[in-house]
Amino acid sequence: MTVQERYEALKSKVTKRKNEFDTFINMLEKGSSWLTSPASTKYHLNKAGGLLEHSVGVTETLLKFRETLAPAISEESCVIVGLLHDVGKIGMPGKPRYLKNDNQWEIEKRNMTYKINPDEVYMNLATRSLYLIAKYISLSDSEAQAILYHDGQYVEGNKEVAHHEMPITLLVHFADMWTATVYEEGRKIVESTDYYDKKD
Ligand SMILES: [Fe+2]
Ligand SMILES: [Fe+2]
Repeated sequence: MTVQERYEALKSKVTKRKNEFDTFINMLEKGSSWLTSPASTKYHLNKAGGLLEHSVGVTETLLKFRETLAPAISEESCVIVGLLHDVGKIGMPGKPRYLKNDNQWEIEKRNMTYKINPDEVYMNLATRSLYLIAKYISLSDSEAQAILYHDGQYVEGNKEVAHHEMPITLLVHFADMWTATVYEEGRKIVESTDYYDKKD
């Protein structure tokens, strides 16, 4: 399945808040860089469409975790949180965060295919995600927490939520890490057998 087909399948899982979700998605698709934005300037998926590919991947991983660990959480919650957790990376509608880099040295030496729009009003990305989504979609407290703190304890400021995470916050954080590290960067899942080998 293409990323686009996987994306469409995920969108169809939102039913209770379909109207507000569709209005937001429509605005994103037609009036922002949502479908073309990279996921970063130089790290994972720094290519056109990278953000969408990452968001679709994280949502699929989150749905797998949900099925095994937390079926009481709705699929709709997982799609809204998973698909939109990084929507702040679009910048603002009409003012994309990522611009094509024109500095050849940075492209060749640092793999920096994109640069940050110098006109952006700086905001923590997870905060901007929540800011954008909440203008359109009514969120539960848990969904809002999950979006805002999806980076978990990798972000210094997120210490304030330590030990107070709702289950969906824990799941989206791990789905984000797993997708980026294992699926996108291709880190191998290998078990070290040195210990047993020495014993044998
Ligand atoms: Fe993120
Ligand atoms: Fe992410």
